Amino acid sequence: MIASKEYSTEEVKRAYNRRSWLYSKTVAEMERGYHREAIQQARIQPGEKLLEVAVGPGLTLLELAKLVGAGTPISGVDLSTSMLAMTRQRLASGGFQQATLKQADCRALPFEDASFDVLYNAYMLDLITEADMPGILSEFKRVLRPGGRLILLNMSKPDEKPVPRERLYRLLPSKLVLYLLGGCRPVLMLKPALAAGFDNVRRIYLGGKAPSEIILATRPV
Ligand SMILES: C[S@@+](CC[C@H](N)C(=O)[O-])C[C@H]1O[C@@H](n2cnc3c(N)ncnc32)[C@H](O)[C@@H]1O
Repeated sequence: MIASKEYSTEEVKRAYNRRSWLYSKTVAEMERGYHREAIQQARIQPGEKLLEVAVGPGLTLLELAKLVGAGTPISGVDLSTSMLAMTRQRLASGGFQQATLKQADCRALPFEDASFDVLYNAYMLDLITEADMPGILSEFKRVLRPGGRLILLNMSKPDEKPVPRERLYRLLPSKLVLYLLGGCRPVLMLKPALAAGFDNVRRIYLGGKAPSEIILATRPV
């Protein structure tokens, strides 16, 4: 995986506040099929306590809310207040007013240890530096109950070999990468998930218009 450009949380928050409306109509629509596959792989059961980190415009959180069922509280966090507002509205229109939505950084999740059965996180680790990944994965592990399931969906590539998108990412100035590419580059999260001490770590590679990977793992019992 190539080195990430470095962005402060303020820069990321500002960029995603500005692009939230456009994002929901473009990128989020294009990636829906990838989410569908990740959600299917997650095998979510009614009643499971679920957290989505980086909810974006809330398209996926609505699908996840339908799976856990209307009586089950569901939680989501994001850095961007505009993304959270869109998510809140989407869930309310879908009849899911019971969601807990918080503005938070994935590096410090505002939840007790072992709070969730499932943690879902999509297209966020691809804008995180490699140095920050271990801390974030251990934060994910902390809030999952023993045996709880982690589902990551990331922009990715088949293997370590360079791909054209990385060249574009490297060539463009940081600010343009953040606004045009969302700050994202392909990542490979199998090894970091193993290094973070997750069990049953598995990778599914999905090609197509937005090459992605699903990482499935469980918190050790
Ligand atoms: C590429 S979008 C993906 C949104 C959504 N998960 C999806 O798949 O449509 C990245 C999202 O991650 C959020 N984000 C970026 N860095 C974050 C951080 N450190 N903590 C929490 N959310 C973050 C952004 O605000 C944005 O909503």
